[in-house]
Order: sequence, then structure tokens, then C-alpha cells
Amino acid sequence: MTAARLPIVVLVSGSGSNLQAIIDATAGDLPVDIRAVISNKPDAYGLERARQAAIPARVLEHTAFEDRGAYDQALIKLIDEYQPALVILAGFMRILTAEFVTHYQGRLLNIHPSLLPKYRGLHTHRRALEAGDKEHGATVHLVTEELDGGPRLLQVTVPIEEGDDEDALAARVLTQEHIIYPRVISWFAEGRLSIQNGVIKLDGERMDEPQQLPFNMPDSL
Ligand code: GAR
Repeated sequence: MTAARLPIVVLVSGSGSNLQAIIDATAGDLPVDIRAVISNKPDAYGLERARQAAIPARVLEHTAFEDRGAYDQALIKLIDEYQPALVILAGFMRILTAEFVTHYQGRLLNIHPSLLPKYRGLHTHRRALEAGDKEHGATVHLVTEELDGGPRLLQVTVPIEEGDDEDALAARVLTQEHIIYPRVISWFAEGRLSIQNGVIKLDGERMDEPQQLPFNMPDSL
């Protein structure tokens, strides 16, 4: 008998390479069922990735709504058709309302391309380069009302190399995002992570600081 898979919905706005990493992991040992992929952009390549994996691909364009609140209400309605236990933001480039975030409290995850709390918001790679940082990275965190400010669960540190430009650094960070996002999702799916009264526990151990992964040099870089 196979154990039940955790139902999830993934939200994308662009390429969806993180979505692809999650899809690929489900073919391995990640016990989740991707019930739907939803995008605010009809041309997001992530939708195509979903279709190729026979996952329902849905579009909800923000331009069709009067304001952020109305869009987020419609988005909640669409997501909840699939009854996910976990909602995954994978390059979903929208600021979410408090109502949305509260609705999915404790089951809304985001990946952000920086070592949070450093570089919240946009252009993280450019800002790390301009600051002369030697290290950069990515963070998977729970989403709260504070932009890129929710509890951090897992981080990976990525070296900045001599001669790096924004694209080279972004590509190196992405390779690591593809490792850490499926890993955190597996913590939920395997029942290893619990959140009670704001206290996060992994395998029963209180987690006050995010878990850290070292850079995992991909063969191709
Ligand atoms: C990723 O680098 C992700 O961390 C970032 O967008 C990219 C999406 O790539 N997200 C944010 O900046 C959120 N603030 P993908 O579409 O190929 O997964």
C-alpha cells in the first residue's frame, strides 16, 4: 500500500524551473500530489511545464481585476478548488494581501533568491554584487504579511566568484534553489515539520534559526 501524498498547489509567474524541480522530485521520493499550477501570466512557461506533466494548468490574470483584494479573493477561490495542504510560491511575482496570507497561514511557502533577511524584494543578485559580497544564496520561508519576512526554514549559501555578472550568479543560485525547495516540501509531506503557536519544530526539535545547506557544486557549472 502506498502512503497518501500531500496535496499541493504551485503558483508561478515565469519560467517555472523551481516547479520543474518539484515535478521531477515527485517522480522520485517526494510524496506530494501537485493538484494544479496557477499563474497570473498566461504566457508563463511554468504552465507549459505543468501541461507536459499532465498537471492542471490554470490562469488567473491580475489585469482582469479592479484591485489587489479582488484578485486575491478570486485566487483563494481557485486554489481552494484543489484543497491543497500546502501552497507553494515558485517565482510568483505578486505582493499578497493580508487576507490571502492569513487564509493560508502556516501552509504557504516561498523561495527567495537571497540569504534573508538580506535583500528582501527585487534584484537580489545585482544588490549582492554591488555590495561586494563574497557569498549569496537562497532561502525557503513561510509567508507572513511582512514581505520576504516570514520564518526562514532552509538556506543555502552560494559563493560569488570573480567576474560574476547578474546572470551567472542567478544561474548558480537557481541550481541550489532546485535542491532546497523540494527538501522543505518533503519535511511537510513526511510530517517532519510542525508549527504550533508560532513555534516551528523539525523532527521534534525547536527550530529558531533556519537549517543550512552547503553549496552543492553542480557538474555542469
Ligand atoms: C527564482 O529565483 C525565485 O527564487 C525568484 O524567482 C525565480 C523564479 O524562477 N523568486 C522571487 O524573487 C520571489 N521574490 P523559476 O520561475 O525558474 O522557478
